[in-house]
Amino acid sequence: MQSNRARREMKMKGLILSGGKGTRMRPLTHTSAKQLIPVANKPVLVYGIEAIVAAGIEDIAIIVSPETGGEIRQAIGDGSRYGASVTYVPQDEPRGLAHAVLTAEPFIGDSPFVMYLGDNLLQHGITPLVDEYRSTDCNSEILLTRVANPSQFGVAELAEDGTVVRLTEKPAEPKSDLALVGVYMFDRNIFDAARAIQPSKRNELEITDAIQWLVDHGFKVHPHIVKGWWKDTGKIEDMLEANRTVLDTFEREVRGTTDDASRIEGKVVIEEGAEITDSVVRGPAIIGCNARITHAYVGPYTSIGNRCVVEHCEIENSIVLENSTIAHVQGRIEASLIGKNVKIARTHRKPAAYRFILGDNSEVGIT
Ligand code: G1P
Repeated sequence: MQSNRARREMKMKGLILSGGKGTRMRPLTHTSAKQLIPVANKPVLVYGIEAIVAAGIEDIAIIVSPETGGEIRQAIGDGSRYGASVTYVPQDEPRGLAHAVLTAEPFIGDSPFVMYLGDNLLQHGITPLVDEYRSTDCNSEILLTRVANPSQFGVAELAEDGTVVRLTEKPAEPKSDLALVGVYMFDRNIFDAARAIQPSKRNELEITDAIQWLVDHGFKVHPHIVKGWWKDTGKIEDMLEANRTVLDTFEREVRGTTDDASRIEGKVVIEEGAEITDSVVRGPAIIGCNARITHAYVGPYTSIGNRCVVEHCEIENSIVLENSTIAHVQGRIEASLIGKNVKIARTHRKPAAYRFILGDNSEVGIT
């Protein structure tokens, strides 16, 4: 067995899991990978890559599915623009997180590694956690945080001395409120664990069960309780919340142009080439490159993507992806997630009626 000391001296690798289907984010995920949906105009996946690079890890594999692999490769490329070297590992079917780990075994080899679920966001990144893992002799480090709804996550039960007793995936009756955050550190013993476990009720090889196997076989699993916020952006409401949380950390930065009739209030980022005309933008908010905001109100907690047009309407607490147009809408738009190349506009056609062309699983709310 590889000694923990030898392991500590090895260079760590990064593994980002980005293969899931994102069913809870439809219809956006019919055409796009959920990990590429932007939070404050940056794809969720990029936050993960940046956090891993900041922790001093450059060699990163991204596990992708056959459906979204092409798009993810196109968006991230070879990783050099993030200071990383990115390899893509296809996972043919989403058969669980522990199955994904096994798929990456040839890439990981004997290196210790950090595994990062591509839809997770951590306020303080992962640098102190990776440093802690490097400096201790544990085989694995897991991150935990207190949540109000533990049965939606993997849940940890700790002994009085703080050691891990039991980990259960999405228990109906959780024994604690400590949820597993989607960032884990492992050495190569996790491969034996993933090979030893059986598929769960949802017919997946659960990483939670693989870590339990480590605990049961005498390997050291160190739990770390995360301070600061953590978001799993699996659902649309989570996305909006993550967007609010990240926008709140922004400082004001105006690179685009604004006319005298406009008011830019508070923490607002206006990217290059964006034009604000006769409008109010109230932060925290971001307006993407070459977007046009005209006779409009963009309220707090809104991210408007690159090249969007927002005219004669009001919007807040929303995310609008690139190239979309929202024009002449009466009444404020709120808590909305609007995809790429969407057009929402008033028409003068008769009969005067709503006209919708919506993809499967779309949602429209009208008051
Ligand atoms: C996965 C893990 C779960 C963990 C969660 C964190 O759940 O199985 O243990 O708490 O990520 O985001 P999933 O997103 O697959 O439902």
